[in-house]
Order: sequence, then structure tokens, then C-alpha cells
Amino acid sequence: MTPAISVSELTKMFGDFTAVDHISFDVEQGEIFGFLGPNGAGKTTTTRMLTGISTPTEGSAHIMNHDIQRDSFAAKERMGVVTDLSNVYNDLSAWENLIFTGKLYGLGKAKREKKADELLDMFALQEVRSENVREFSGGMKRRLTIAMALINDADVLFLDEPTTGLDVQSVRTIRNLIRQLNEEGTTIFLTTHNMHEANELCTRIAIINQGRIGIIGTPEELKQAMEKTHSIEVIFENKESENLQMLESMKSVREVQRHGEKYRLYTTEPADALREVFETAQKHGKRLLSVNTLVPTLEDVFLELTGEKIVHRGKFQTAKGKKKRR
Ligand SMILES: Nc1ncnc2c1ncn2[C@@H]1O[C@H](COP(=O)(O)OP(=O)(O)O)[C@@H](O)[C@H]1O
Ligand SMILES: [Mg+2]
Repeated sequence: MTPAISVSELTKMFGDFTAVDHISFDVEQGEIFGFLGPNGAGKTTTTRMLTGISTPTEGSAHIMNHDIQRDSFAAKERMGVVTDLSNVYNDLSAWENLIFTGKLYGLGKAKREKKADELLDMFALQEVRSENVREFSGGMKRRLTIAMALINDADVLFLDEPTTGLDVQSVRTIRNLIRQLNEEGTTIFLTTHNMHEANELCTRIAIINQGRIGIIGTPEELKQAMEKTHSIEVIFENKESENLQMLESMKSVREVQRHGEKYRLYTTEPADALREVFETAQKHGKRLLSVNTLVPTLEDVFLELTGEKIVHRGKFQTAKGKKKRR
């Protein structure tokens, strides 16, 4: 079967800063492919190249076998795009936004009206179809943006951080819609900085760091790495230096890091480690101020999987390290 997305050595430079660095991967039809990485990793830049908004410096991408550069019209016909910048018109109603988008795609009147009606149903916007979008909540606007991206019956849907900034209920609604769309046959390319979101939704996950793909794996592999990187944070009443040595001697602890007055203990067995922390402290007559178990972070998991550190690159940072406004 033709891959839904095929990427080869795709690269984007801004001046002499490499935002995306020779990435290659395929997404099969029917997948929800997660593109997971911290802020500044290159997710949006990649999405913009894959959807023909931005021209690659090097490399190529095909959407359903159409080269996004050489055959961009055919490629774009097969895709829907939801960027991180919402493209709804506040002065129009939900219905008008959908119809307007249908016109942009060149759909005939009957077809665009039928599709708009179906989408209002699917995205639970039928009741507010005639209301001005300006009055919509963030979640409603996001639903409408996704609906607009689907007016053309896209085979491949690109979603750039679709749940970022939404309330819990809206996040759940959007995730359910993504699943439903996928079950109905849409291939999904989803960027996120949220490891749990990627785990919950995706069939495969690429982790991107500083413009390079560190690893491509399944949610199962990611979960296993998460289980290995549980940690416990401990603060003692006294701040003596022998605390570190004492913690490092614990059997259930793999590694200890000190951050100021906090000690972070990495373990695969958080329950055992907790017990041992209390026993060890008591044995040495140390008083504990606080003990917290921490969920693994993307940084922890990435380090576990690749041996590399995640780097947070500032938004719009140039190669010289100056902040720039876009
Ligand atoms: N137009 C631009 N000019 C210069 N640098 C940019 C531009 N767009 C993005 N960058 C830089 O490229 C890197 C990747 O950005 P981006 O793709 O937006 O990351 P993400 O979406 O993963 O947060 C960041 O360091 C960002 O500052
Ligand atoms: Mg982004």
C-alpha cells in the first residue's frame, strides 16, 4: 500500500540555524502517527513543510505518492491541515466558515452544503451553526477548525498540537474525535509535546529533539521506558552532604541527582524505593521534610530510550541565540 506520508532527508534552515535536520520516516495509511517533542524541537516547521506551507531547504516529502513540491496541487487535495494558528473567521458563523472553506477547495454548492451539515453534526456544533464564531469557547473554535480541515474529505489530516491550551473536557472531546476520524479511515499526523497524549492516541510515535528524530517506536515501547524512569523526590530537614552518599547506597535506587536541597532518586520500583527511603532515613536518624513520587517526564523517557538529553530550544531563537519576533 502507498504510504500516506513519505519523508526523505527533510531539512529546514533559517539562516545558519537548522530547525529540521535531515529527517526521514513513512506513515502508513490508517495510522495515527505522533510527532512528539518539546517546544522548539521542529514540529511546526516539519508540519509546515509536509503541508506545502513552507519550502524545504533539502529533502522531499510525498503525500499519498504526490510530491508536495512538484505535485503540490494533487498532494494538497488529499490533505486537511489544522495549524497552531487558528484560521477561523471570527466575524462569520460556524456554517459560513465551513461553506467558505468548501468554496476555497472548489466544492460545488450541493456538495459543500451536505458536507458542512455532516461536519456540524459530527463536531457537535449544529446548535450553534448560525452563531458568530467570536462568541465561541476555545474548544468550540478548535472543533470548528478541525471540521473545516475535513470539508474536502481529506485522506491525511495534519493536526499541530490540537489540544494545547484547551480545558480538560475539550481535550477529551478532541481526542475522541481524532479516534473517531481515524476509525473512519483518516490517517492522522499529530504533533504534541504531551507524552501521555501520544501514548493514548498513537499507533507509532517519533520523538523529535533539536530538529532530529531520536527514535520511532510504539506506545508500548514508550510505556516500558516510562516504567523504568519513575522517580522520587526527597527533601531532608538538614542539608548535610552525607545525605547524597546515604541515598546512593540504597538498593532499589538506580541513580541519585541533587538539585539544590532536593534529591531525585530514579528507580524502576517506586514502591520498594519509597519503603527504603523511610527505612534508610530512620536508620541514620534523618528527618524527612517531604517525599514525592514523580511521573516520568519526556526528558526522562527520551534519555532512557536514546541516551541523549532533550534540549528546549527557545521560540524563535536564532543561531546567535538572540530572541526574534516573528
Ligand atoms: N521563521 C523562523 N525564523 C527563524 N527561526 C524559526 C522560525 N520558525 C521556527 N524557528 C525556530 O526553529 C525551531 C523549531 O521551531 P518549531 O518548529 O516552531 O518548534 P515546535 O513546533 O516543535 O515547538 C525553534 O528554535 C524556532 O525558534
Ligand atoms: Mg509548534
